[in-house]
Parts: sequence; C-alpha cells; structure tokens
Amino acid sequence: MSLLNLETLQVSIGPVQAVRDVSLSLQAGECRALVGESGCGKSVTAMSLLGLMPAAAKINAKHWQFAGRDITQLTERDWRQVRGNQIAMIFQNPMTALDPTQTIGAQIAEPLRVHKGLSRREAKMRAIALLERLAIANPAQRAEQYPFEFSGGMLQRAMIAMAVVCEPELLIADEPTTALDVTVQAEVLCLLQEMRESSGTAMLFITHDLGVVAEIADSVSVMYAGQTVESGSLHNVFKTEAHPYTQALKRAVPSLENPRPLEAIAGTPPDLRKPPSGCGFAARCSQRMAICEEMPPQMSCGEAHLARCWLWHKDHPARWREQENIAKTSIKVGGKS
Ligand SMILES: Nc1ncnc2c1ncn2[C@@H]1O[C@H](COP(=O)(O)OP(=O)(O)OP(=O)(O)O)[C@@H](O)[C@H]1O
Ligand code: SF4
Ligand SMILES: [Mg+2]
Repeated sequence: MSLLNLETLQVSIGPVQAVRDVSLSLQAGECRALVGESGCGKSVTAMSLLGLMPAAAKINAKHWQFAGRDITQLTERDWRQVRGNQIAMIFQNPMTALDPTQTIGAQIAEPLRVHKGLSRREAKMRAIALLERLAIANPAQRAEQYPFEFSGGMLQRAMIAMAVVCEPELLIADEPTTALDVTVQAEVLCLLQEMRESSGTAMLFITHDLGVVAEIADSVSVMYAGQTVESGSLHNVFKTEAHPYTQALKRAVPSLENPRPLEAIAGTPPDLRKPPSGCGFAARCSQRMAICEEMPPQMSCGEAHLARCWLWHKDHPARWREQENIAKTSIKVGGKS
C-alpha cells in the first residue's frame, strides 16, 4: 500500500485556481521530485499536504490517503498531531520557519516534547546529537544560540534538524537548497540523502533544478498550470519524456551532451484566474491538434508512466492529424474554387 495516495487535488484561493488537478503517490522511503515553472502550484500543493492552507482556501480531493488514514476527514486537532510528527516540511527560507526569539536547540527539541513526550533534558540531548550529525561544530554551544547567530547554510541545517527530529514518514522539501551557494547546496543534499537512507523517510522534493532531480529522485511528477501533466520513474520522465511541456523543460536546461545556450519556452502559462477548459499547455505547444481544445485526461504512455496529453491517446493521434489535414485541404480547395 502507498504511504501517500492523492487523487485529483483542487485548491482555490479566492478567484485563483492554484491547483486544478494534482495526483501524487509515494511509497515508504521513495523520493519523488515535483517540478514545474514558477506559479504552477507546487508550494500550494505542499502546503495542502501539510494542512497549512488558510481557512479561506477551498480544498477538494477525490481520494486522499496518508499512512492508511483518510486525510479528507482530519480535523485541525488531528492535523496538529500529524504535522511535524508524521509529515514535516523544510521551507525555502529558514527565517520564515524559525522563531528569532528562541534558541536553535529549543526549537529543534520542541517537536520531541510535543509529539513524543520527551522531557526537556532528553529532548535537548537529542537536538544536540542531531546538530552534531548535521556537521555543526560545537553543537552544545550552538544549540544555545539564536537564529541571527547562524550563517545561511547553518540555518538551513537547523531547519532540516527541526523537520527530521521526529523521524517523519514523509518529508516535504520546498526548494530547500535554492537560497544556498553551490557547495552548501551539495552538502545539504548529501545530508538529506543520508537521513532518508537511515530512517526510511519518504520525500517530496520540490525544485526548479533538473540537475538536483537527477541526483536525488526515484520518481518525478511534472506540474503545469495547476495540474500534474507527467509522472513516472526518474528514467521514464527524464530519458523518455512524453509530454511536450516536459520535452520543452528539458530543452531549456543545458546538459553535458547539450551545453548550448538555453532554449526558453516561448509564451507564458495561462492565467489561473481563468484557466482554459482544454489542455493548459495548448497555447505554447507546437504539436497542438484540434482535440486539444478538450481537457486531456492522464494517459498511459508506458509502464507506470502517465502523461496528460492527447498525443498518447490509444486511438493514435496521427489519424486525427490526417483528418485535420484533409479538412484543412478541402477548405483551401473550396476557397479557391
Ligand atoms: N496565499 C495566496 N493567495 C492568493 N494566491 C496565491 C496564494 N498562494 C499562491 N497563490 C497563487 O497560486 C498559484 C500557485 O502558486 P505557488 O506558490 O504554489 O507556485 P509555485 O509553483 O510554488 O511557484 P514557485 O516556483 O515560484 O515557488 C500562483 O498563481 C500564485 O499566485
Ligand atoms: S494535449 Fe495537445 S496541446 Fe496539450 S500538450 Fe498534448 S499535443 Fe500539446
Ligand atoms: Mg513555490
């Protein structure tokens, strides 16, 4: 049974349909990368998975199960037991997650006291041990310091410590390394991998950086305009990418095989206050067909590999194209005569 099984998540914030149709699954210990350009709904998906969306947001899901529980039935009180304990999050900016008025050690120890019932002393000892594991020198002294006394890379490690201290079953990392310089970035990724291996935590890793995805993920979900448009194993999605958006995304990233300048994806994503009723990528897609005015469902394009694109319909779009061409030719012929 999957650890997380989320089907057709929809989140509206006022007039914005920030998440229109997201489906995700995660097995215990799996690392799934969630990628897609800015504004496509990655963070809203992550916050929803933690029960952290504001009350004004409207959230709906066809099916939403985590660790055998139906999440759609959780009360705020239930969420407080799940959050920080079974599901934890590393935010992009540590300053938004850390309290400037409390010592780092006290903040790492707090979830242990709240969720695991440890004494103040025991929790503090564990926090110090964890800081040491995260390669913070003089951890006992460091634990007594406040966030402003830590460098950016150290703050990020303190936040990781806070997130993993209760050994959650699912860790959500929202762009955890974007704000860091390259060396610290590599260090933090390495630490996350180690944590994952030692405690069997599953991870949802949100990033723009396809290089990081290739390094850390077992599976990938690609989002576009509030929808998951492709998902599968790392190999499926990166080597045999099926959705025209994923193909464009890959062309936009320089690689060793293709170090040429980036080929930016022409056009802009749709306005999520008024999203199109058909394929969200149609306005930018060079392979668009007449049928693309209708919303494509997720279609199978290989083993455990899904794409939301009419090109993968079992009726062979080649035939539709032929019909479209015939129709166009007859219009032209008709026009001349
Ligand atoms: N609190 C909010 N109120 C209103 N709209 C919001 C709110 N949070 C997000 N949105 C909108 O929801 C959409 C999805 O935003 P989200 O932050 O999830 O994107 P993202 O994929 O995480 O982007 P980025 O890569 O830039 O972090 C955007 O159109 C954004 O403007
Ligand atoms: S459904 Fe049509 S427009 Fe959308 S990505 Fe596929 S081919 Fe392009
Ligand atoms: Mg975001």
